[in-house]
Amino acid sequence: MASANISELDRTNSQDIKFFTNGNGMTVRERARHFSKFLDLIHRQGTTYGRRILSSTDREVVIRDPFTGENRKMIMFASNNYLGFANHPYIKAKVQEAITKYGVGLGGPPLLNGYTKLMDELEERLADLKHQESAMVFPTGYTSNVGLVTSLVKDGDRVILDSLSHASFRDGLRMAAANSEEFEHNNMSHLESLLVEAEHQYTNVFVGVEGVYSMDGDLAPLDRIVGLCRKYGANILLDDAHGTGVLGETGSGTAEHFGCQNDIDITMGTFSKSFAMTGGFICGPKDIIDLMRFTARPYMFSAALPPVTLAAVLAGIDLMESVPALREKLLYNARYATRKLEPLGLCANPEAAIISIRVPDNVDIRKLNYEIHQRGIFLNSIEYPAVSQNQQRIRVSVTAMHTKDDMNRLADVLFDTFNNQLRIDDRVTS
Ligand SMILES: Cc1ncc(COP(=O)(O)O)c(C=O)c1O
Repeated sequence: MASANISELDRTNSQDIKFFTNGNGMTVRERARHFSKFLDLIHRQGTTYGRRILSSTDREVVIRDPFTGENRKMIMFASNNYLGFANHPYIKAKVQEAITKYGVGLGGPPLLNGYTKLMDELEERLADLKHQESAMVFPTGYTSNVGLVTSLVKDGDRVILDSLSHASFRDGLRMAAANSEEFEHNNMSHLESLLVEAEHQYTNVFVGVEGVYSMDGDLAPLDRIVGLCRKYGANILLDDAHGTGVLGETGSGTAEHFGCQNDIDITMGTFSKSFAMTGGFICGPKDIIDLMRFTARPYMFSAALPPVTLAAVLAGIDLMESVPALREKLLYNARYATRKLEPLGLCANPEAAIISIRVPDNVDIRKLNYEIHQRGIFLNSIEYPAVSQNQQRIRVSVTAMHTKDDMNRLADVLFDTFNNQLRIDDRVTS
């Protein structure tokens, strides 16, 4: 059994990471040994995964180049550090103050010894930011979604989710053994037909959407989704990981952008994008948040975020509120970069700070990104399992720190490398 699968692996030239997500009848050591071969192969081909960053994250970073062993500067277009908070002097000063006052950690979850004054303060500020009654903070955005879904979705409930929903929401659904169905991405008539089917059939109907879709950068039409949820008695679960700090008059997020910030049942967000930190949060009615504090297992059974993180996020909210120019610059940059990159063929119409460029199936995306790397631009190539197979793309995150020169350089490099790789791969396949 194992050897048949191993020769299948050789036949596929070990190119496909999906192969290793299944057991294929191999022992775990066999699978790991073959994965090592796969890793060797992709390293020899020039993978850009896991580059070592030696500096702070800003518009430029210094990395140890894995191909030459030398240190070099690159322009960073892969980080979701949208507002430049990763290396902001005000935030660094606030974090240092917090370390002096509170030390670095706590050693326990919030329900036991991990709930601090800073956490209390942060939860209040987050609830205000999101126009909700109450908020709670999780160790990561991922665990926020898992905690939300597993805590709230029970037998007799139905979850209707957009087909491009993030892995963390889907993993929550799996763990909750939830009854769920997808609607085509942003297709409101499909959503409505599923809501009609579900009406009066279930104890609760939840609709899971993202404000800004993480892989394509397009928005959910939240005003219309709110209308449909009200009409059919469903609850909206909004993941606004990429909208928080970016969209809306005050940076509250995608709901504010659509003017429906008071109509969202529950909002999730992360600290790993605009706040350039780590952690996540859920905002909603106080009784639901209280219920979640005692039933969301990632909150109950994982250590609380340390003062360092809480102080950084609190300082980030200060800046979001007091320096709207950062958000304005970000959106200006995002529009400028979108205009420059549009002719390459975008995956969607980006309206926040993510721009995704479709890479045809016949192009070796790792080779493409290797060439982009050689030209001094740090970008993410996105493959399965981050997107479904045949959906590979290059994903650009624009920040408020980028200059026009950075974006012009990005466009020049992408036009050259796409042209080179498309020509090369056309020759190979013809
Ligand atoms: C839409 C969305 N939700 C949730 C998450 C998980 O957030 P975190 O990285 O903070 O765990 C991400 C991060 O990639 C995301 O893009």
